[in-house]
Amino acid sequence: MAQEKTSTETAEQFALRMTQTVSSGFVTLAVAMGMRTGLFTQLSRLDGPRTSVQIAQAAGMKERYVREWLAILVTARIVEYDRQQRTYFLPPHRRAVLQPGAGKHIAKVPEFMRLLAGVAADVADCFSLDGPQGVPYSAYPEFPEWQADLRREEHETNLVPNFLPTITGLEERLKTGIRVHDVACGRGIPTLILAQHFPNSSFVGTDIDRDSIQWAAAESNRRGLANATFQVQDLAKLPADWSDSFDYVLVWVAVHDLANPEGGLKEIFRTVKPGGLVSVVDTRSHTELADNLDNPAAPMMYGASLLYCMPVSLHFGGKGLGCMWGQELAVSMLQEAGFANIRVMEVPNIKSKLHFLCNKPRG
Ligand SMILES: C[S@@+](CC[C@H](N)C(=O)[O-])C[C@H]1O[C@@H](n2cnc3c(N)ncnc32)[C@H](O)[C@@H]1O
Repeated sequence: MAQEKTSTETAEQFALRMTQTVSSGFVTLAVAMGMRTGLFTQLSRLDGPRTSVQIAQAAGMKERYVREWLAILVTARIVEYDRQQRTYFLPPHRRAVLQPGAGKHIAKVPEFMRLLAGVAADVADCFSLDGPQGVPYSAYPEFPEWQADLRREEHETNLVPNFLPTITGLEERLKTGIRVHDVACGRGIPTLILAQHFPNSSFVGTDIDRDSIQWAAAESNRRGLANATFQVQDLAKLPADWSDSFDYVLVWVAVHDLANPEGGLKEIFRTVKPGGLVSVVDTRSHTELADNLDNPAAPMMYGASLLYCMPVSLHFGGKGLGCMWGQELAVSMLQEAGFANIRVMEVPNIKSKLHFLCNKPRG
């Protein structure tokens, strides 16, 4: 089907499509700048159309920059422009999508692309046979903060009221008191939230990134959480005395980044109690490329994979699964690691992810 369409396309039509594609890249950067400068927030506060001078004054910014930025958004059909009045207006239904904190996760991605564009040359160097294997985490210094912001949006009003009830009985057990491990936790946002909600349970967040763990530990102290600890820990070699220790393990969008995902899953299996539950949350995708053709987010996700997920794993000589490893491979790797009752579930309010819920068999 896709091949038929391609064969009837003329060079002129393809050139136009390329122009639109490249334009979209610039529009994405402009959207990222709008988020960063707070211009979308400013536009959203306005009760009607305004000139660029009025918008720049309200924002306390240089009019010439604001006007050129507006021009990108007008020609991209994001901001409406009145030719006679020379006024600009961001319609309410677009504000809802673009305003930071609106809970629409797509609003966070333009800044992610801006951040990834900074390493595009490093990744391009990896293609050559004698080039580097991958790119170190240190090449993405802004990533942990960006990711923690995204997780706050994903979890703050969603984790406890919507995500937990999809796991039968877990909320009750958290209230009573169980041991939870947040694997490759980054800045540990879900652990911070869960520890606050469930004081009878104890939480451990682990990650190889020292800075993220320090941030999480400091935030935990700031919140006065006595039931959460964070420690630097390579998932490939969890402490020997952690066997059969955890009632529930959460792995939020991390398996595909690991250098050794099979080894990591085996360590999770070893350290969860018999009968214990494991939630692996990861990108919604299929393992077979052709099955992702109808996913409008697929080019964006393969882009994130190429520019971040894959090279950080390959840097360690790892597997380089990439974030589009797909649900079919995820299920077979969980089976291979020994997990049972694997269910592929929706993540409430987060369409871009899937939840693989499974458990370690008893006995
Ligand atoms: C995409 S981030 C997800 C972080 C966090 N779960 C979240 O949802 O924000 C992947 C994380 O895996 C961590 N990581 C990579 N390899 C690891 C390993 N071998 N052991 C522990 N953590 C690892 C990285 O440092 C990074 O914080």
